Amino acid sequence: MAIYPTKRLRRLRYNPTVRDMVRETVLTKNDLIYPLFVVPGEKVKNEVRSMPGVYQMSIDVVVKECKEVEKLGIPAVILFGIPDHKDEVGSGAYDQNGIIQQSVRAIKKETKKLLVITDVCLCEYTSHGHCGVLNGEKILNDETVELLAKEAVSHAEAGADIIAPSDMMDGRIGAIRKAMDEKGFTEIPIMSYAIKYASGYYGPFRDAAESAPAFGDRRSHQMDIANSNEALREAESDIDEGADIIMVKPAGAYLDIIWRVKEKFGMPTAAYQVSGEYAMIKAAGKNNWIDEERVMIESLTAIKRAGADMILTYFAKDVVKYLDQNK
Ligand code: PBG
Ligand code: ZN
Repeated sequence: MAIYPTKRLRRLRYNPTVRDMVRETVLTKNDLIYPLFVVPGEKVKNEVRSMPGVYQMSIDVVVKECKEVEKLGIPAVILFGIPDHKDEVGSGAYDQNGIIQQSVRAIKKETKKLLVITDVCLCEYTSHGHCGVLNGEKILNDETVELLAKEAVSHAEAGADIIAPSDMMDGRIGAIRKAMDEKGFTEIPIMSYAIKYASGYYGPFRDAAESAPAFGDRRSHQMDIANSNEALREAESDIDEGADIIMVKPAGAYLDIIWRVKEKFGMPTAAYQVSGEYAMIKAAGKNNWIDEERVMIESLTAIKRAGADMILTYFAKDVVKYLDQNK
């Protein structure tokens, strides 16, 4: 192998066209999944305090938004619902006429090829804000899994293209796959939030989804931030149970995990650049402490470089604008 002065790594960096040719990772529109928050009502468009540029929208507004997203060339959205009524068992989550079920039907009617992914969990629908049903302060696993399976089936019945369980209960992928198959939804993929950490980066999301837990936290089901081997065990269980796509969440602080999961399983791998990651870049950008657009692209390129095939990001529309301007 050549060494300096024969070898000069800078040779490929002087000319911008050469740089373009040797670039190893290229972000494209096809990589993007855009999260949306649906609330009851009409003509509602409330900006989320901690997430500038992100809104809670009523169904009519979300449908318009989805048409725009489709026109921009973003392939998919993921929906989160805030019901008008919350209860102990999160009934709104598996109600045929729940906020998500209605949204999916409306969006599918008004768009052509936009993929509608639905988040499956109970925390947006329970009065206590926990991801499952409780006995005292304990989240019951198997009882919750049954409800999640019902929720997933009701999303599929409404027309969802992909189901994305985010709850981190044990055995839910198998249960959801079985329940959907029994109803004939054998062709609907499951994108599993397989590796979801108990993270401080979800703060702004809980403003957007009004889903902060009334007491305690999510450490009895979400993963310990310090663990890496365990992430592989989580991915393996979900793959064995029938997950089609594996997600790592958050993304930016867990690039090592994205890399390990991709290396080990070679599965289609998604990463979620979560609300806190977005909020930090936005806040620093607004203060002119960083160049927002540059850091947006850098953070997303890093996630893709680590091995993500698709990225859930609140920046999706901004990325498209950037890509269209910098062709
Ligand atoms: C619901 C859910 C959460 C997120 C996605 N689905 C919040 C949580 O677990 O508290 C977080 C997404 C984000 O922060 O952008 N289980
Ligand atoms: Zn949850």
